[in-house]
Amino acid sequence: IDADVVIVGAGPAGLVLGNLLRAAGIDCLILERQSREHVENRARAGFLAANSVRVLTENGLAAGLIEKGARHDTCAFRNDQAEFELDYSELGNGEVHTVYPQQFLVTDLIAEFLARGGEIRFGTEVSSVSGMDATVIADDLLLRAKYIAGCDGRRGVSLRSVPARVFRRDHDISWLAILAEAPPSMSAIGYAIHERGFAGHMARTPTVTRYYLEVPRGEDLQDWGDDRIWDELHVRMRSDRYGELKRGAIIERRIVDMASRVMDTIQRGNLFLAGDAASLISPAAAKGANLALMEAEILAHALIAAHLDGDTTALDRYSADCLPRIWRAQEFSLWMINLLHGPAGYDDEAVFQRALRDARLESLRVSRAHQDFFAENYVGI
Ligand code: APR
Repeated sequence: IDADVVIVGAGPAGLVLGNLLRAAGIDCLILERQSREHVENRARAGFLAANSVRVLTENGLAAGLIEKGARHDTCAFRNDQAEFELDYSELGNGEVHTVYPQQFLVTDLIAEFLARGGEIRFGTEVSSVSGMDATVIADDLLLRAKYIAGCDGRRGVSLRSVPARVFRRDHDISWLAILAEAPPSMSAIGYAIHERGFAGHMARTPTVTRYYLEVPRGEDLQDWGDDRIWDELHVRMRSDRYGELKRGAIIERRIVDMASRVMDTIQRGNLFLAGDAASLISPAAAKGANLALMEAEILAHALIAAHLDGDTTALDRYSADCLPRIWRAQEFSLWMINLLHGPAGYDDEAVFQRALRDARLESLRVSRAHQDFFAENYVGI
C-alpha cells in the first residue's frame, strides 16, 4: 500500500486529522489539488469555538493561535429600534470565540504536519476514491490505502462515493462577503437588521475586517465597487446613529449562497468524510470550520483505535456519532438565518415574517433564558 491513511484535501479538516494521526505514528499521505501557496493564502473562516481551541491545544497545534489569536466574547445586534450587546462569556456555558484567520491556521497545520513526518502532495488532483477497496486515483495514478479520509470540501469527489440519502436546503439568501483592509469599527461582531437587507461586521485582525451584505440571488459582483459597498454598509449598519465605519480598500469580494446539505451517512466501507465534504452549513453562525475540527478529532480517535488496536467500534459508529451534532449545528444556523433576515416587500406574508423576526430579536434583547440559549449554541458545538 501507499499509505495507511490517504487524506484527500488539505483544508482544516484534513490537516487536523493528519496531525492527530501522525502524533499516533500512523503513516499518512495528504493529496491536495492546489499549491501550498494557494491554500496558505486562502482567507475564509476565522471564528474558532471553545471546542476547536481545545482540540488544537490538546494536540499541540495551538502555538500560533495562542500567540496571535484574539478573544472575542461580545456581539451586538442593531435594528431600527435599538442596539444591544450580548457578552456571551457571561451567558450560557461562558465560552468565548478565538478569532484566528483560517489561512494562518492552515499554514501552522501544514508546517506541523510536515514536522511530524507527514507527506503532502500539492498540485495533485484526485479524480475518484473508493471506500470498498480503499483506493484513490490521483493524476491517473492508482494509490492504495487502508483507510481514506474524504476531506475535500463541498465540491470534492469523496462525497460522491458515499451512497447516502442527501438532504439539501437552499435558504434562498445570498451574502456578499467582503474583506476590507480596514481596522474593525466595532469591538467584535455586529449584526445589523435592516429593511434593505442584513449587514454584518466581523472583526478579524487589527488591519483586516470582514463584512457581509445580503444581496439578491444571482447578483453580479461587477456591480459592487468599493464605494457602493461602503455606502450600503453605512446605511445598513446605521453608521449615522452608531458611529462611522473605518473604510479601507476592499481586498476580496465574493457571493455566498446560504445552503445546507446533510447526508444520512458519512461513511462507506473504508472511506470516511469530514468537514464540508461531510456536511455543508450556511455561514450564518460560523459553524463550518468548527464542525470540521470536531469531526477530524472523532475520526482521528476512531482510526487510531482501529489501526493500532484493531478495535473498529468507533469507526463503525462514526456517522452515528457525528450526525446528531451536525443536525444541531444546522438547527441553530437556521435559527440565526431567521433572526437576521426577513423577506422584502409589503404583502401580508412578508410583513408577518418580519414582525416575527423583530419579536425574536426583542426576546433575545430582554430574556436571560433566550440569551443563555443563544450563547450556548453560538459558541458551542
Ligand atoms: N483532489 C484534491 N484535493 C481536492 C479535491 C480533489 N479532487 N477537491 C478539493 N480538494 C481540496 C481543496 O483544494 C481544499 O484545499 O480539498 C480541500 C478542502 O478544504 P476546505 O474546503 O477548506 O474544507 P474543510 O477542510 O472541510 O474545511 C471546512 O473550513 O473553510 C472553512 O468554513 C469553511 O466550512 C469550511 C471549513
